[in-house]
Amino acid sequence: MTLTERSMLDLTGRVALVTGGASGIGRASAHALAAQGARVIVADINETGGVETAETIGNAAGFVHLDVTDEAAWCRALDYVISTEGGLDILANVAGIGTGGDFEDLALSDWNRMMAVNATGPYLGCKHAIRAMSGSGRPGAIINVGSIAADRAAPDLVGYCASKGALRMLSKSVALHCAHKGYPIRCNAVHPTYVDSEMLDPIADLYGSREAMVQAMSRLVPLGRLAKPADIAAAVVFLASDGAAMITGTELFVDGGHTAGVPPSHFA
Ligand SMILES: NC(=O)c1ccc[n+]([C@@H]2O[C@H](COP(=O)([O-])OP(=O)(O)OC[C@H]3O[C@@H](n4cnc5c(N)ncnc54)[C@H](O)[C@@H]3O)[C@@H](O)[C@H]2O)c1
Repeated sequence: MTLTERSMLDLTGRVALVTGGASGIGRASAHALAAQGARVIVADINETGGVETAETIGNAAGFVHLDVTDEAAWCRALDYVISTEGGLDILANVAGIGTGGDFEDLALSDWNRMMAVNATGPYLGCKHAIRAMSGSGRPGAIINVGSIAADRAAPDLVGYCASKGALRMLSKSVALHCAHKGYPIRCNAVHPTYVDSEMLDPIADLYGSREAMVQAMSRLVPLGRLAKPADIAAAVVFLASDGAAMITGTELFVDGGHTAGVPPSHFA
């Protein structure tokens, strides 16, 4: 990496809030943003994991308890960030949940919960982050972590796909809202393929073991492996940085080629 590239990713002096920071992609994103010089507020309902992330990062990080589905909690969390850090520059909406199974058995409560965490949570985050970012006078960046499920439907993940589809258009619409209002705030989405995180643990039994699951899922990814949380965090850092200054309303698929096309069928 050249000096120029390094300076474009430099986040010194920026303040970031990362939801879902107690685990997986959120934890990796918190570490990666801090490694580029940002101060990071880790936000999660999992206090033990969130505090652990912040403590591992050290002085550059803090923790705030946040249920992303709760608007009053968002207001409290962002008031805290404004009062302690002087403003907010980066919001990474990473928190998410997923349940699957036969669509005809999908309980309304599971549907509502997925929509609440995966779509309503980022909506609340975007809405209130704009307020927190407007005051700083610095450019702001919002990164919403979606999924290839925002682009590729799956018969056994109907609620999850619907919630990530909503998040996809939320991101584009918020980007245009900010541009229309003249706010220096960009909003983009990152769509990962399967990521080797705790989120996959509940489905390991379907394959017999976690190792068998990883092997089977890796075969579906053209690059031949699951993504690591750090792979996704690298995209979050890029979209947060000045290197992405002209990028808004778009999406970055970090999917090892998963959504690029179909597998070879005739001549392989
Ligand atoms: N793991 C994958 O294969 C995969 C693939 C594509 C997209 N994603 C997306 O990436 C994001 C992160 O997933 P991950 O793999 O790191 O999962 P993970 O389960 O490791 O982490 C999710 C985090 O979100 C937190 N969370 C859940 N509900 C919350 C709420 N109401 N308020 C605040 N925090 C809450 C959890 O406590 C946890 O720390 C999710 O949005 C997920 O949909 C994951």
